[in-house]
Order: sequence, then C-alpha cells, then structure tokens
Amino acid sequence: MTNPRLSSAKIIQKILEEKIFFGDLKQQISEKDLPFCNMLILTVLRRLTALRQILSGFLSKKIPNKHRLAEYLLIAAIAEILYMQTAEYAVINETVKNIRNTNDKFLGGLANAVLRKVCAQKNELLQKAEKISPLPDSFVEILAGYDAAQIRQIGVSVIEQPPLDITVKSNAAVLAQKTDADILPNGTLRLYNAPKVQQVPEYDDGVWWVQDVAASLPVLAMGDVAGKKVLDLCAAPGGKTAQLCAKGADVTALDISAQRLETLRQNMHRLGFDKVKTQAIDALEYLRSAPEQFDAVLLDAPCSATGTFRRHPEVLHIKNIQDAVEQAMLQKELLDACENALKLGGILLYSVCSVCQIEGEQQIADFLRKHQNYKIVPITADDIGTWNDSLISENGTVRTLPYYAGAQKGMDSFFICKMQRII
Ligand SMILES: C[S@@+](CC[C@H](N)C(=O)[O-])C[C@H]1O[C@@H](n2cnc3c(N)ncnc32)[C@H](O)[C@@H]1O
Repeated sequence: MTNPRLSSAKIIQKILEEKIFFGDLKQQISEKDLPFCNMLILTVLRRLTALRQILSGFLSKKIPNKHRLAEYLLIAAIAEILYMQTAEYAVINETVKNIRNTNDKFLGGLANAVLRKVCAQKNELLQKAEKISPLPDSFVEILAGYDAAQIRQIGVSVIEQPPLDITVKSNAAVLAQKTDADILPNGTLRLYNAPKVQQVPEYDDGVWWVQDVAASLPVLAMGDVAGKKVLDLCAAPGGKTAQLCAKGADVTALDISAQRLETLRQNMHRLGFDKVKTQAIDALEYLRSAPEQFDAVLLDAPCSATGTFRRHPEVLHIKNIQDAVEQAMLQKELLDACENALKLGGILLYSVCSVCQIEGEQQIADFLRKHQNYKIVPITADDIGTWNDSLISENGTVRTLPYYAGAQKGMDSFFICKMQRII
C-alpha cells in the first residue's frame, strides 16, 4: 500500500534540503498518488513561511535536525488541515503513525497534541497565516530594485495556482472555442479549468504547446523572422524554438544538455517542426568557433528561474541572491560572445525568466555600456499585444511581473531586450 503523506514529506525534504525542482522528483510518485501529492506539495511550498511560523508557535523548542522528516510531516499535515478538504481525523492518525514509524514515540505524542490544537484553532490560524508574507527573506533580497507595493503584490501572486497557458500554431480562435479558453492580448490561449495536458483537444495533432504567456513574448518581440536564419542558443525544451519554426524561421537550436535537447527533438516532432537543426553543445564553445553567421540570435539565457515561482514555488525557498549573481556571470559571457555568430544589422534577443534585476535590467545596462556596437530596438505593442499593465519600459525593454494581467490571473516574470548589431 502506498503512503502519499509520507512520500510528500520525503519529497518536500529533498526539494528544500537538496535544492531540487519538484518536477525532477515527480517520477518518484505513483500515478495513483500524484494528484493528492501534487496538491499537498504545492500547497506547502506556496505557504511554507506561514506554516513554519504556525508550527513553531506550538513548540517550546526546535525539533532536532535528525527529526527533519517528522517536521516536514507536521508541516504538511498543518497545510492539509488548513487548506485542503481532507477529514481531520485521517490527517492526524496518518501523520502520527508516520512519525511513530520514522521517529521516536515522544514525537508521535507531540504531533498528536500539535495537530489537535491546529484543528481546534483553525479559523484563528487561517487569519494569522493571511498576514504572513509568503516570501522568505532570502527571496526578498532577490527583489532589490522593486518598491514595497510591488513586493507585496508579488507576494500575493505566490498563493494562487496559475491557469494553463498554451501557444497555438495558428487559428487560435477555433481552438479557444473548443477548449473554452480566453485569448490573451498576445494570442496565448488561457485555460482556467484545464484537464491533464494530453487531454486538451488536439494535443495529438500537434497544433499547440504549453507555454506561460510571458515566455511567449521574447519570440513575438523578435518581429518577422520568416525565412531568416535564427540561432536559438539555450533552446530546450523548445517552447521558443517552436514559435520560431511556426513563424517560418530557419532554426538552429543548441542546448548544453543532451537529455533536454532530446526532449526538444521529441517536442518538435510532435509539432511537425522536423526541419529544425539541433546540436548538444555548450553555447560558449559554439560561439567561440561560430561556424555560421545568423540574421538573429535568441539568447533565452540560463538564469535563476526566480520569475517562475507561480508554477514552481520551490524557487522561493531554494534560490538566493548568490544564484542570481552566478547566473549573471554566465549570461554576461554568453552575451559578450553572441556577436561572433551575428551578422551586421542582425537582431540579438536577450531574455531571462528571472525577477532579479541583476540578470535583467542591470545586465543589459552593463552590456550596452561596454558594447557600443549594439543599440536597443524598442519592443512595441504591435509585437507583444496591448496590455492593461505597462509591460514595456521607457527604454523599450519588457519587464513582466507575476501580478500583471490581474483579472486574467498573472504571468511569469521575464525580462526581455531586443538589440541590433550596428557595427
Ligand atoms: C531558460 S532554459 C531555456 C528555455 C527554452 N529557451 C524554451 O523556451 O523552452 C535554459 C536552457 O539553457 C541550457 N543551458 C544552460 N547553460 C548552457 C550553455 N552554457 N550552453 C547552452 N545551453 C545552456 C539549459 O540546459 C536549459 O535548457
């Protein structure tokens, strides 16, 4: 018999202590348990700061490190009692049994007492939790450059489960009707009550792919690439490669990870984009020898991924400012090397799914100061659609934030800059 509460606690422990993305651990969960574990783990990750404070309010001293798994079992149980509709007695019984089986008897008794108090004080605890920011201090550090109101709104957007966004090759209106989806200003279809991805109509026909609305904007910002030679430097799993192919570009897609590139190939095959050329190689190595010159280069750079916390709330707890600083150094090296593969007059599109300005605004300001052979080409509403929130900054770059498109439930945080090589 499976034990989904124990599996969830073990996975939460692995995510937080080994800094592993939840997506890379999902295969450890049985198909039967996946819906429950998915819901429980995501609830814990979204509300971890409040859950930790609530638990510590019931303890006279910290649970010793050797009993960390018991602590995660307790945190998950509190999440279930407060935010999921499971029967309270089942949560308490199972959690106490799991803790007794994995730890000592004393902790089992303590867990029983704590969880009974949580049930008794449920309403007060829910009110208390609402007042606690879901952003840990280490993440607030990443948000340097945003004001207090922006940080508060970013915090609010952590809690909500985002809808499913898909990019369609063409005829978005037809699929929108079949799927009961909204069409967003850039053409993305947004499904609010989506079934499993494979069950969304026309999956097998390869007419659409999953892509957060913000992730679709970099390629839209590139403008008309039909018939152009485009180098997609960090391409896997290929959401943007697919967009380039759909726009009729002649695409060369690279990625350092052979495994991720294989996923890209499978994705392109499902979508009927078999002409794309692929190579598993470090982009820096490729750019050093630069065997070809391209009309456009897309550098969707490796980054801290801190802009994706709506879909991957673990980044709130496993990423810190040091990660952003390290990624910024790699981004700088990649940006510096791009001109080796870019024709004079060609377009360099830089994007990151990071909310951290070191990897976005600051990175590009430094780059342009040192590279006067480039100029910014302002991104316009014609490229990315007209939004209520002003996605386009004064200098023509784009910054999306998770609470934009409010009534339509947000978008990931991206920074996007379009540049032209002029010398
Ligand atoms: C942000 S993801 C790219 C997402 C992709 N552009 C899309 O739209 O689906 C970054 C990718 O960069 C790859 N990567 C990291 N370092 C790299 C390097 N030095 N050279 C090439 N690819 C790299 C990673 O394997 C990862 O697949």
